[in-house]
Amino acid sequence: MQMNDFKLECYFGKYEFTAPYLLTQSDCEAMSTGELLALEPEAQEEFMNQWLGYTETWGDPELRKLIAKLYQNMTDEDVLAFHGAQEAIFGYMNVMLGEGDHMIAMYPNYQSAYEVANSIPNCECSKWYIRDKGTHWEMDFDELEALIKPNTKLIAITSPNNPTGYTFTNDEIKRLCAICKKHDLYLFSDEVYKGLELEGEKRDWMADHYDKCASLGVMSKAYGLAGLRVGWLVSKDHETLEKVVKFKHYMSICNSAPSEFLAKVALKHGEKLLERNRQIIRENIKQVDKFFDRYPQIFEKKAITCGPVAYHKLLLDMPVKDFCQMAVEKKGVLLLPSEIYDMEDQYFRMGYGRKNVPESLAKFEEFLIEEKFV
Ligand SMILES: Cc1ncc(COP(=O)(O)O)c(C=O)c1O
Repeated sequence: MQMNDFKLECYFGKYEFTAPYLLTQSDCEAMSTGELLALEPEAQEEFMNQWLGYTETWGDPELRKLIAKLYQNMTDEDVLAFHGAQEAIFGYMNVMLGEGDHMIAMYPNYQSAYEVANSIPNCECSKWYIRDKGTHWEMDFDELEALIKPNTKLIAITSPNNPTGYTFTNDEIKRLCAICKKHDLYLFSDEVYKGLELEGEKRDWMADHYDKCASLGVMSKAYGLAGLRVGWLVSKDHETLEKVVKFKHYMSICNSAPSEFLAKVALKHGEKLLERNRQIIRENIKQVDKFFDRYPQIFEKKAITCGPVAYHKLLLDMPVKDFCQMAVEKKGVLLLPSEIYDMEDQYFRMGYGRKNVPESLAKFEEFLIEEKFV
């Protein structure tokens, strides 16, 4: 199997641990092991006694119960745990797609959603574009239906979306599931940013609405615990989960025991962690909005209603790739240009989930002034 480079990871590989001002991160502010354990009175002692043997491939039984409880209609048997979300995407796409299959991916999207399809001979992926409507992004369900072919096997969506932040409403979730049901399609729903609704209704998990949907969740993003590397797929479609678990036998086999312990503590206090991170994002939005209001001539700001990222437009007459390169080289401010998402347009991704966003924003502003963009 020949995979194309993962552009985002290659870019991050260069700058993520060297650039001091990370203004594009999609994970929320992390915390120390001590801070997390402080949420639960006996947890510290229990953690010291955590057995360091192999764990169950499907995931720790109590962890699976806690994950199932996030959903309306799921039990622990509907949960398969993974070493992060990336492993789950790779495993799912590998077992679901083969030669001659067609899939549809929401676009732009996290690269792994469609890259396995690109690596399989004669496997085709069509793009369901998120449309730029000036101040916000929109999806057209008629466009989706028009993309469906006789050999379409699955649709892959990411909501809240990376990089645009576009998030399906609960009505749209039902509409999407109805389309999949009508055409008997599998639905892969990457919901790693779920739980960060900043306004409007709390979103349902897609798998609660459609049996052939697999919902992807993780501790990395909305909970801000990327270092745990604990993710999950939840689905009523056990036939698919059984196939994916056999693929997992060739990947991580099982999760790390200390990580599963810490993930359980975090999920027991999940709402508290989510509210902490929503609060950080809300405060950052206020600062970022003021920043964009000062420079309407060079940026077109997109609204952010859910999740930690937004995808804004650069109005300058220079490639956004060069602009982002200059920002990181001159001032250590990291942004992600649309080239990373295989797009020629002039967008860049901004992340709102870190506590130091105001500091990074100030550096970004210094960059604009010093380089005479404003
Ligand atoms: C939409 C989306 N899905 C999955 C992942 C992978 O998550 P993890 O790092 O937990 O494996 C990411 C990471 O950036 C992401 O943005």
